Amino acid sequence: MELLKRPRRLRGTELMRKMVRETRMSQESLIYPMFVVEGSRKKEEISSMEGQFRYSVDQMPYELERAAKAGVNHILLFGIPDRKDEVGSQAYAEDGIVQRALREAKRQFPDLQYITDVCMCEYTSHGHCGILCRKDVENDRTLEYLQKIALSHVQAGADMVAPSDMMDGRVRAIRGILDQNGYENVPILSYAVKYASGFYGPFRDAAESAPAFGDRQTYQMDFHNSREGIREAILDVEEGADIVMVKPAMSYLDMVSKVREAVKVPVAAYSVSGEYAMVKAASKNNWIDEEKIMCEMAVAAYRAGAQIYISYYAKELAKCMTEGK
Ligand code: PBG
Ligand code: ZN
Repeated sequence: MELLKRPRRLRGTELMRKMVRETRMSQESLIYPMFVVEGSRKKEEISSMEGQFRYSVDQMPYELERAAKAGVNHILLFGIPDRKDEVGSQAYAEDGIVQRALREAKRQFPDLQYITDVCMCEYTSHGHCGILCRKDVENDRTLEYLQKIALSHVQAGADMVAPSDMMDGRVRAIRGILDQNGYENVPILSYAVKYASGFYGPFRDAAESAPAFGDRQTYQMDFHNSREGIREAILDVEEGADIVMVKPAMSYLDMVSKVREAVKVPVAAYSVSGEYAMVKAASKNNWIDEEKIMCEMAVAAYRAGAQIYISYYAKELAKCMTEGK
């Protein structure tokens, strides 16, 4: 045989395969999203996200400890308030749910890094991500509220803020208010390339944040578009984003690759609630191997160019990563 090129030579043993591996992952790059609710002694399982819970502030530290033990050092916090109103005032209240959770988390686990989702949909009675005017979200007025929310999170101890609302100009607005208040060193992780997606369904159950009418297509992106996503990423970096995110992950890996080339800040990919729920449901039926699928999805995001991966499987992934899976 005169075959000169035999790619299989490098696949013969595990030692060889691991030596030539192109994508190496570390648990240091994982972010774990968590939901906090009002009340005490609560650990409520989210029905559409088996294995994920809504914790009251007193229960949350146990989960933080489990995350830290697993080697996951970055937490993305979502708050679910008891009281909602037209302008989402609990989102920027000094004793709001996220603000209290942050103070407690920082007190008990000061070595973890806390990132907060900055948005209004969990806090507004109508479930939209901003202030309404004639059935649509009014961009510039919403910016003033996003500034208040971001500032109150940072004042309560957030190490980084992550605006997810998709208003125009929010990164610049938030950067401005943080700088004015002496927080020029607090970074912004922008949900820059965020599509209007059916994959957020389970999250909206978890956070009770489904819009009461209409949808989010006037602010989140049309999933048919690619160039528009690059534009969003570039705009956010120009406005001062320190890290940009692509969301969802699995069906948007083309965008992860393109954004990585287009902007030179770190790129994060968010494997969202619907991705998690699909894997859970299929593996519960023994149709797929949960661990294998979870790892393949994560590796795919890193292979596409993500430096940071946000996943509800963060603890389990950390274990797989230390085992070199
Ligand atoms: C808030 C927000 C959402 C998610 C993250 N931040 C929901 C939405 O935009 O409807 C989705 C996260 C997930 O599905 O896991 N705007
Ligand atoms: Zn929102």
